[in-house]
Amino acid sequence: MLVSAKEMLQKAREGKYAVGQFNINNLEWTKAILLTAEEMRSPVILGVSEGAGKYMTGFGTVAAMVKAMIDELNITVPVALHLDHGTYEGCYKCIKAGFSSIMFDGSHYPIEENVEKTRELVHVTENLGLSLEAEVGSIGGEEDGVVGMGECADPDECKMIADLGVTMLAAGIGNIHGKYPENWAGLSFETLEAVKEKVGDMPLVLHGGTGIPEDMIKKAISLGVAKINVNTECQLSFADATRKYIEAGKDQQGKGYDPRKLLAPGTEAIKATVREKIELFGSANKA
Ligand code: 13P
Repeated sequence: MLVSAKEMLQKAREGKYAVGQFNINNLEWTKAILLTAEEMRSPVILGVSEGAGKYMTGFGTVAAMVKAMIDELNITVPVALHLDHGTYEGCYKCIKAGFSSIMFDGSHYPIEENVEKTRELVHVTENLGLSLEAEVGSIGGEEDGVVGMGECADPDECKMIADLGVTMLAAGIGNIHGKYPENWAGLSFETLEAVKEKVGDMPLVLHGGTGIPEDMIKKAISLGVAKINVNTECQLSFADATRKYIEAGKDQQGKGYDPRKLLAPGTEAIKATVREKIELFGSANKA
């Protein structure tokens, strides 16, 4: 069922668990995530960055693939198809392509401009029944060419954006895309608490879910995080399993070079990572 992320996140917020956003790159990724969410009876969000959308030949292809796959695989759990770190133009492209959820990342604009553009997108998405994520305080690291410094969000600016009526808010709290460096200071729960104080029951989004220690994930959920994004960890699992298959020479045994065989261990590895995260986030059996 392709749905907006609104209801699933409000339920997560109230039930003190988080829904995972897993980024997709191709058919194998999408299939692995959808099947695992169904198996675990968990709501799920498929994240698509602009780079990944381009790689898959365009947002129209992505939306058609996801809708058809939900149908062909008989997926009955709620699934949101969500643009990740969208530009202003990218948001309109995904709305047109049939995405059910949009993220407008205006964090690199001056706050007044972020507010104006987010306000406009709140109206557009609300009229169409789509969910909207906004961002304040950039997420550190690099994802598909989107580079952020990782500053902590200003709680007053978070309130300005939350008051516009967005569905969910990504506030930088020292989180970083990709692997965390050895000397990472950890999540700033002080910032998270201050943001929560200002935005009340607004579901909060934690980006950079790869490699955050379990106790920090649980604490973040207890403080209002209702959506956690994971991208790199599935890529690492896929690469690791594929490398092992090739290093063991399995691609040269029989028809081991058949892409359906070659990509199978990586696909299973993505499933294992998604399963682990769904358990940790507490969204199993919440569909
Ligand atoms: P990671 O790649 O660090 O898991 O972050 C994913 C993310 O935040 C997508 O927006």
